[in-house]
Amino acid sequence: FFSPRNILVTGGCGFIGSNFVHYVVDHHPDVHVTVLDALTYAGNRKNIEGLPEDRVEFVHGNICDADLLDKIVPGHDAIVHYAAESHNDNSIKDPAPFVETNVVGTFRLLEVARKYDVRYHHVSTDEVYGDLALDDPARFTEETPYHPSSPYSSTKASSDLLVRAWYRTFGVRMTISNCSNNYGPYQHVEKFIPRQITNILDGIRPKLYGDGLNVRDWIHTEDHSSAVWTILTKGRLGETYLIGADGERNNINVLRDILKVMGQPEDAFDKVKDRPGHDRRYAIDATKLRTELGWEPAHTDFESGLEQTIDWYRNNRAWWEPAKAATEEKYRRNGQ
Ligand code: NAD
Ligand code: DAU
Repeated sequence: FFSPRNILVTGGCGFIGSNFVHYVVDHHPDVHVTVLDALTYAGNRKNIEGLPEDRVEFVHGNICDADLLDKIVPGHDAIVHYAAESHNDNSIKDPAPFVETNVVGTFRLLEVARKYDVRYHHVSTDEVYGDLALDDPARFTEETPYHPSSPYSSTKASSDLLVRAWYRTFGVRMTISNCSNNYGPYQHVEKFIPRQITNILDGIRPKLYGDGLNVRDWIHTEDHSSAVWTILTKGRLGETYLIGADGERNNINVLRDILKVMGQPEDAFDKVKDRPGHDRRYAIDATKLRTELGWEPAHTDFESGLEQTIDWYRNNRAWWEPAKAATEEKYRRNGQ
């Protein structure tokens, strides 16, 4: 068992990072968290507002800033690295910040973890494995070859490879997790589920890419948090663990669920231009994490998780409204 007392969470003002900070504050009272976040368009200080000041410290800064890392990393016993450019559509429009943050940023963190011998956990995605056909019985495992499709997923794959090399060559004490699609509170309105919920709340018709048959393997973000904590504290060094909760669903069915819960007719949406290179299906086999580390997801009922998420967006209009118009304008210019 590894029992960290002082952890540095990069990207802790984003969707999944901030949910992880809440998770640690709620479940591990002896742990202090430093959040390092550049507050890009996707970062929001409000995501960690109200947490006890003696438990959570915020540092506004960039993971690519080696001098800053050199100042703030000593004294921490683990880095949990969430910060990234995370949206596929943005990476197709402009890949540059993806290479900078996802590849160069990870390199900087690995160098500082090496210098101060700090335990490092790398948060990555199932998209590094490419996609599966709809009728393929296979799911991704830790042995699946890397085959990323988009600028986003190729930069995440590159960062994973850096982490593996820094383990083998320099002995950086690391683990990697590759998780499937998250949903839950604090997700930016550019992403599929929040976009459609907030469209309906704003009287805009939801937008479905292509034929809508693409499959994603949905997991509640709290289950992602508990899995990362489990891997950080119980995982074997040098290992990769896949995180997923058996939540495969196609986009059109997810959209119909949202429409139903929100009292809309099931055909009240527009089909729009497909995403170039759009991955068809992701599916995770999380046997290693479940059997080796004993992790189980708590949110196994997608419909009720979705209802709670819809309620969260209904009750937190002030959180998402400032980003909504600009996000929709960007999509409109793109024909989506
Ligand atoms: P997000 O876009 O909501 O948040 C990213 C956060 O990182 C923001 O707070 C942003 O300000 C910060 N950030 C960006 N560039 C930075 C930089 N250079 N320096 C410091 N901070 C910076 O992303 P998310 O959806 O919460 O994803 C978090 C992590 O989880 C990413 O590494 C992503 O690849 C991974 N992941 C996401 C999913 C998913 O479904 N969203 C699934 C698996 C893995
Ligand atoms: O699999 C994990 C990945 O999940 C993470 O690594 C990424 O950071 C995260 O953004 C997510 O990637 P996706 O591309 O799968 O998520 P997104 O929410 O952008 O889209 C989900 C699906 O919905 C995808 O098939 C595209 C489709 N879509 C998306 C939007 C925004 C639509 O049909 N309409 C939309 O308006």
